[in-house]
Amino acid sequence: MSFSTDIINCEYQKPDAHGSITFPIYRNTAFEFPNSEAIAAAFRGEVAAHTYARISNPTVANFEQKVKAASGAQSVIALASGMAAISHTFMAIAYAGCNIVSSPRLFGNTFSFFKSTLSAFGVEIRFVDTNNVEEIAAAIDEHTCAFFAELITNPHMEIANFPEISKILKEKQLPMIVDTTLIPWCAFDARSVGIDIEIVSTTKYVSGGATSLGGVIVDYDSFDWAQNKRLAATPKMKGISRFAFKIRSEIMRNLGASMSSDTAYLQSLGMETLHVRYERMSGTAYRLAQHFSKHPKVANVGYTKLETSPYKTLSDAFFKGNPGAMFTINLTSKKDCYTVMDALKVARRATNLFDNKTLAIHPESTIYCGFTPEMKKTAGIDDTLIRFSVGLEDFEDLKHDIEQALEGI
Ligand SMILES: Cc1ncc(COP(=O)(O)O)c(C=O)c1O
Repeated sequence: MSFSTDIINCEYQKPDAHGSITFPIYRNTAFEFPNSEAIAAAFRGEVAAHTYARISNPTVANFEQKVKAASGAQSVIALASGMAAISHTFMAIAYAGCNIVSSPRLFGNTFSFFKSTLSAFGVEIRFVDTNNVEEIAAAIDEHTCAFFAELITNPHMEIANFPEISKILKEKQLPMIVDTTLIPWCAFDARSVGIDIEIVSTTKYVSGGATSLGGVIVDYDSFDWAQNKRLAATPKMKGISRFAFKIRSEIMRNLGASMSSDTAYLQSLGMETLHVRYERMSGTAYRLAQHFSKHPKVANVGYTKLETSPYKTLSDAFFKGNPGAMFTINLTSKKDCYTVMDALKVARRATNLFDNKTLAIHPESTIYCGFTPEMKKTAGIDDTLIRFSVGLEDFEDLKHDIEQALEGI
């Protein structure tokens, strides 16, 4: 069936006792058992049962089920934020002395997690130009534990040739881990470009209008984790990869960043409206990108479906012609960016992406404000860029808003 029908009719693991047609919020912490052997068996993982909400919860499991239906993945693990999904992934596979080969074109906190947090534990981050497959191959050695990148990169709007990169990673027996927050499952199948583990901040498209923070780790079970030095000793269970088993049975229990049941409820509803919101928001973003690409005061527009984008061919091939609700404009100075930002009346000056409201931000002075000039250069952050996340408002209203703001320059 179609994407939305599948999500809306996604089967519950257990039907609600009262036949509620929306899966309820189980806000409790503990679950009781009829006798000592039953609770011991649940702790040993021999029966599928909820024991304690930090480990699992029926409402969260129902949300995970919807993401599984949307993505076709073998396992989905929901966590408290997109950053929790990223950090849990690398806490499971990295080890002192290993390295991660990564694109430097990263969301600011991911860059900081790699360079400040993980490096303190003896993990080296090797930044590579993802447009250069030879450079990627040369950076890989026997201590590399994964390749990481974003698809599409935020805020640069770049797309690497993932099928080409996947060939090298298969040869070197390395997993491809990609943050696909900018492109949801209704527009993109991660398996088609060789992604093994997908990480998504569900705060964005999924939450249904910035209702809650969340993140998911989506495991397609396409990588043999016996190749990873840290995971080789983890048991291979039926129906779950070593990676997903390690995260569920150790990392998320020990770090404790589980998704709350209230969030899972909101995000399950968000999943049901994802496709319609996405079509509307990304359709408006394309029209705005086209319009402002011809504006005399705009130096450049970043949107991968534009004829002028160097990523158009990959974008058309990967995203069913619909590359999302974010676009960027470059002006000629930071001062001009501030002038335009300050004059916006419909778009809100706020960080976040894919709210129902249109948001505008100057990334260099906000998300990347703690970066040194050197780090900004590595991360490709430019102070002439404004990022727009297009919401559900009318195209004409947004066009007029940005146009009147540009008049101030
Ligand atoms: C591409 C990308 N990945 C990860 C994150 C982190 O997500 P969260 O804010 O849910 O932790 C963000 C947040 O903006 C993002 O844009």
